[in-house]
Amino acid sequence: MTSPHTSEMIALKDVRFSYADRSILKGVNLTIKKGEIVAIMGGSGGGKTTLLGLISGRLKPQSGSVIVDGLDVPKLNKSNLYGLRRKIGMLFQFGALFTDLSVFDNIAFPYREQTNLPEDIIRSLVLLKLEAVGLRGAKDLKPAELSGGMARRVALARAVALDPAVMLYDEPFTGLDPISVGIIGRLIKRLNRALGMTSVIVTHDLNETLRLVDRVVVLSDGKIHRDMAPEQIRTTDDPFIRQFADGLPDGPVPFHYPGPDYLSEILGR
Ligand SMILES: Nc1ncnc2c1ncn2[C@@H]1O[C@H](COP(=O)(O)OP(=O)(O)OP(=O)(O)O)[C@@H](O)[C@H]1O
Ligand SMILES: [Mg+2]
Repeated sequence: MTSPHTSEMIALKDVRFSYADRSILKGVNLTIKKGEIVAIMGGSGGGKTTLLGLISGRLKPQSGSVIVDGLDVPKLNKSNLYGLRRKIGMLFQFGALFTDLSVFDNIAFPYREQTNLPEDIIRSLVLLKLEAVGLRGAKDLKPAELSGGMARRVALARAVALDPAVMLYDEPFTGLDPISVGIIGRLIKRLNRALGMTSVIVTHDLNETLRLVDRVVVLSDGKIHRDMAPEQIRTTDDPFIRQFADGLPDGPVPFHYPGPDYLSEILGR
């Protein structure tokens, strides 16, 4: 089902979010079109995972609006929120597989939980997804028998099992060797196209990201500070972007979690 109006899949308007009295997002405006792949970058603790939580309706903003596929996310009641979650697939850094289940049963899980499909149809769908990530031959293995890169691919196949409209990736490349990073990157792109999805990727891996995405947005100080195409990123001398691109420890991205003044703290005053 597509929403009646607009090619916008995700729209955040003046979104503010705090944990207790700590303000994390201070007026985020971000629109993502249907079919786009957008990367979100920014310093550690800057609120990237929080932003994904707002899109998936796991968190509610204190103010502002979050629209996903035409739905006003913070205003959804429980059953509509459940409906929204079925449209959203997520892959997290340690996309935990069920360790006691085979690869096949891990991917069959969402179908068995959330649909009434008969087993023979489920079997075909699982094999289709496994084929898409190149692991049909590994269907009987247990997660402990997989390499890290393979496990991430299985988690990816499971995340897209129910053909979500939106895929949210939180650090999908972390901890993988360069070849696996390339494979996951290519899969994200291919699946986005083949399944007609819209993808949001939180990542620090600028090189892989630039091969993959339509846009990169940079979250800093609770707002979207940059919104650039990959080719602009490659050539910009923007210090914030260069700090990421060149992996520099010092630059505009702060190293310290906000806290009291260091000297007063160690002196106990
Ligand atoms: N459940 C929570 N309760 C209170 N504070 C939280 C909670 N979750 C996150 N935070 C705080 O909110 C801030 C933003 O966290 P978030 O996880 O969104 O950052 P991030 O940009 O994803 O960082 P990283 O790149 O390190 O994953 C952090 O300072 C974190 O300490
Ligand atoms: Mg995070």
